[in-house]
Amino acid sequence: MAANKTLLMLPGDGIGPEVMAVVKRVIEWFARRRALRFEVEEGLIGGASYDVHGTPLADETLERARAADAVLLGAVGGPKWDGLEFSRKPERGLLRIRKEMGLFANLRPAVVFPALAEASTLKTEIVSGLDIMIVRELTGGIYFGEPRGIEDLGGGERRGFNTLVYTTSEIRRVGRVAFELARKRQGRVCSIDKANVLEATVLWREEMARLGAEEFPDVALSHMYVDNAAMQLVRDPKQFDVIVTTNMFGDILSDCAAMLTGSLGMLPSASLGAEQDGRIPALYEPVHGSAPDIAGRDLANPLASLLSFGMMLRYSFDLQAEADLIDAAISNILASGLRTADIMQPGKAKVSTSVMSDALIRELDKLAAKA
Ligand code: IPM
Ligand code: MG
Repeated sequence: MAANKTLLMLPGDGIGPEVMAVVKRVIEWFARRRALRFEVEEGLIGGASYDVHGTPLADETLERARAADAVLLGAVGGPKWDGLEFSRKPERGLLRIRKEMGLFANLRPAVVFPALAEASTLKTEIVSGLDIMIVRELTGGIYFGEPRGIEDLGGGERRGFNTLVYTTSEIRRVGRVAFELARKRQGRVCSIDKANVLEATVLWREEMARLGAEEFPDVALSHMYVDNAAMQLVRDPKQFDVIVTTNMFGDILSDCAAMLTGSLGMLPSASLGAEQDGRIPALYEPVHGSAPDIAGRDLANPLASLLSFGMMLRYSFDLQAEADLIDAAISNILASGLRTADIMQPGKAKVSTSVMSDALIRELDKLAAKA
């Protein structure tokens, strides 16, 4: 089945290629053992693209991303490209592909695997059983608002500026995604803003409230200021079901939520656009960055990438059983005590990316034999 589905894999920089290699092995496993075939193409993004094309995202790569059924991305950035002019920096490639593919809804689920509850820096009882979904607006807000820039005021004085801007439709379309998700979960949405200070988020709050009342009266909607939300996430994270928030607040809060799960190396994400001709543009990537300090050393945690691949199976191809298989394999190998360095705990076995990857394939074999 799904023989003609094409995936564009963009490994990017740093640990990106290493974690994507693990995903590739799992894709091959599904082809071999489950007759589930994807056509996998590869492309460049970030610094890797800059080194070849002189730009962090070539137009041709963007076209291939648009044509693919889904995009799988590793990570971008690294000290090698720190000195580049702003528009050529690796991160610009990532921001451009999100914007140009219209991926306005970024789903970042923070789920604590039972075996990792003790790996969190927070007390076990605070995080065990945690399952929250952060929906981050991804193509608007201060990340993209105009005007922006750094200008020279003369006399050694400069002025840097960005614009926080949201329109009704931008707020409502991401709100809808959050409300729909809540309906399949515990039926609660918490919208996070800074409406006590920022007008753009006064509008955010008003539009979320109106959308909730008009289209989702069955979903319980609450509002919270972002500073309080940051505190509540570490005080009592289980109070949340679905969180919906702006681009920058979502960036910050999702890193915070990641640590509840034990490590940034555990958090997957899906970025989705609006349905067009029966297809939803989609990009899947781990929330972690390119981790240049450990790149190329077989130390990276591949689980966030694999979980992102699982999200792809779920959201782009409705392959729930296959996605469940991945989740179960990960859960089981964590329960068996294997840990990459970032989630290492006393008494567990510290393993490399490749050993973790071998174990995953073996676990998938075992689960498939049982099914
Ligand atoms: C993320 C990252 C990106 C962002 C960077 C790399 C541009 O931090 O996906 O959270 O800020 O969106
Ligand atoms: Mg971030």
